[in-house]
Amino acid sequence: MVLTNDKTMLKLHTGAVFLDPEDILNEHLDMVDNEILNLIDNEIKNENFEFTTPLYDMMKYHMGWLDKDLKDVNQYRGKRFRPTMCLLTYSAISGVYKKAIPGAIAVELIHNFSLIHDDIEDMDEERRHKPTVWKLWGIPQAINVGDGMHVLANLAVLKLREANVTDSKIIDVLEILNNVIIRLCEGQYLDMCFEDKMDITIDMYVEMIKRKTAALIGASTKIGATLATDDEEVVEHFRNFGEKIGVAFQIVDDIIGIWEKTEQTGKPKASDIRNKKKTLPILYAFKKASKSEREFLTRTYEREGKTLDDEEINTVLEILKRVRAKEYSKKIARQYEEDALSELSRTGIENESMDKLKALAKFLVRRNY
Ligand code: IPE
Ligand code: IPE
Ligand code: MG
Ligand code: MG
Repeated sequence: MVLTNDKTMLKLHTGAVFLDPEDILNEHLDMVDNEILNLIDNEIKNENFEFTTPLYDMMKYHMGWLDKDLKDVNQYRGKRFRPTMCLLTYSAISGVYKKAIPGAIAVELIHNFSLIHDDIEDMDEERRHKPTVWKLWGIPQAINVGDGMHVLANLAVLKLREANVTDSKIIDVLEILNNVIIRLCEGQYLDMCFEDKMDITIDMYVEMIKRKTAALIGASTKIGATLATDDEEVVEHFRNFGEKIGVAFQIVDDIIGIWEKTEQTGKPKASDIRNKKKTLPILYAFKKASKSEREFLTRTYEREGKTLDDEEINTVLEILKRVRAKEYSKKIARQYEEDALSELSRTGIENESMDKLKALAKFLVRRNY
């Protein structure tokens, strides 16, 4: 197995084959996008009332198919890795992937609904290199657009009927999705509460990110596995793999949010610090800070309501650097990655789709966007 840190060179060497994670992601991207687009266009057609079309245009803007003037584009669509994880899990078990498509697109729709709402909750003005939906069309419309995408996810799952999936399996998938959305709401609740709370431990942080992020990634692999097999043990290993890689993914997201440039992330620089988010690097800094550093952090983070200004952000960055918070956070992410990969080997399955899942997992923990 040969790995490098360079994005273009990040390849997993498995036997004779080099797997490029970008190729793995691109393999299903257009198909997944077309399925979601069909779902949206069907609503427009069925509804047949032209004044409702802008609702769906806002969805298409967020998905990267329309620009802010509602002209056709195809850029900044997001990584779309969750549906790929679902499809690869299904094909790792069954050898094909087609039947799992409605489950895969449901997960991507849930992800995008949660991003539209998350940007309101975080008051972030940019995502995927462009203004957020609420920034362009206002908070009330953005809430509604997010709600619409949430419901489209459930409608997508019902499309499993056309793939001859049994009603009982369809109910299982709906149960997984709905359980995950309530976890996601819990996670977002905690994330926002923690902004104004001082006694947050690393264990509490992990519980928060398990809910806001990892649960949905665990659902992607769980849905793929549930559709492919009745073997509960195998399903559980795939779910655990997804959840653990999801924890690592969110830690990496915290790191990127602080240290990567906006041109890479497409999100506002240091917005987590500005918003007093209790991310892993920050919690570690609180733990390792000197007396005077802790006094500064406590004073700044305890101050009610007010966000951090540029000078305070710079001081926080200096403290993070001194305590080596980035190195610590990377180490923790790698531990979750290792655990995730061992869950995968515990399934006892070995084939090309499994190799692709491993390559994808490694990419998610080494990415810079
Ligand atoms: C962003 O997820 C939100 C988190 C859970 C950290 P992604 O990084 O997968 O977002 P897109 O879809 O690629 O934009
Ligand atoms: C990610 O939240 C989880 C959800 C969207 C539910 P964050 O607020 O940490 O993610 P970004 O950095 O805005 O993508
Ligand atoms: Mg956010
Ligand atoms: Mg958030």
